[in-house]
Amino acid sequence: MSKEMKNILVTGAMGQIGSELTMALRNRYGAENVVATDKRTNPNPELRDSGPFYSVDVTQRTSLDAVIKKHNIDTIYHMAAILSAVGEKNPLLCWDVNINGTLNVLNAAIDFEMVRVIIPSSIAVFGPDTPKENTPNDTILRPTTMYGVTKVCGERLGDYFVKRFGIDVRGLRYPGIISAETLPGGGTTDYAVEIYYKAVEEGKYTCFVREDTRLPMMYMPDCIKSTIDLAEADFSRLKHHCDFNVGSMSFSAGELAESIKKHIPHFECKFEPDYRQQIADSWPSSIDDSVARAEWDWEPEWDLDRMTKDMLEKLTKRHNQGNLYK
Ligand code: SER
Repeated sequence: MSKEMKNILVTGAMGQIGSELTMALRNRYGAENVVATDKRTNPNPELRDSGPFYSVDVTQRTSLDAVIKKHNIDTIYHMAAILSAVGEKNPLLCWDVNINGTLNVLNAAIDFEMVRVIIPSSIAVFGPDTPKENTPNDTILRPTTMYGVTKVCGERLGDYFVKRFGIDVRGLRYPGIISAETLPGGGTTDYAVEIYYKAVEEGKYTCFVREDTRLPMMYMPDCIKSTIDLAEADFSRLKHHCDFNVGSMSFSAGELAESIKKHIPHFECKFEPDYRQQIADSWPSSIDDSVARAEWDWEPEWDLDRMTKDMLEKLTKRHNQGNLYK
């Protein structure tokens, strides 16, 4: 553990990534030292009983500050955000949570002299004008979704706070994240999680993007590893701060269905694109993460077939116990 990070707060701790990240941080830094927060008030028993939990709305400084003061917080993992699909349905909510929430976290970091803030970004910072294959780290950022607009702003704000106020802010551009614990909430890449649940539950799935839609993806263990690796990286090695590409795997929706068929031969997948197709089409197919590899030794560990085997094992076990959706 880096010496300075003693009292950690996670926002959005009930979300897809936040829920598993909180447990990983509690294992690593001690359960009492990792405070979980979420706008929602009903955490699962694992999250609730393993350490402190508070309901916090990141758009309200008073609500955030009270917990920061009480626990003498010096590090924030700011995971609370509205994702791309919900963001297109409600752009102003997306702006409010992602921009004002992020500004509140950054201003709190100044006021409480924090040692580190981690603010994830996304492949959604890219747009139709960005090179689609092997997308470079430093390239055209002209997103066409509100989610992407807020994530570009978040990256620029974070870098500004590093330079202007000397706050150690770090962030990485997650691809679509696949996991078996907590369902994602309102993203475009949600199909890559839903497909596993439906394969186990019903042996069939109707996917909301075309079969040839190819996007960068990552399995949760690599997501957690990338986040903690960046948070613990040596600051003096970082030339970038809030905008690291992190690659892992890229596959089409059709290839994903094929990898499931290797285990469930009767699995049937139909493809019926909806409004999320356009969002997916504006994002890269694959990511060049050489900057993250050079500046903090990023290296992914999972590929599609290994992930599929692990996902199906976990979900089948839960399905057989009658609690697939927990
Ligand atoms: N998974 C996210 C989304 O689909 C991308 O960051 O919105």
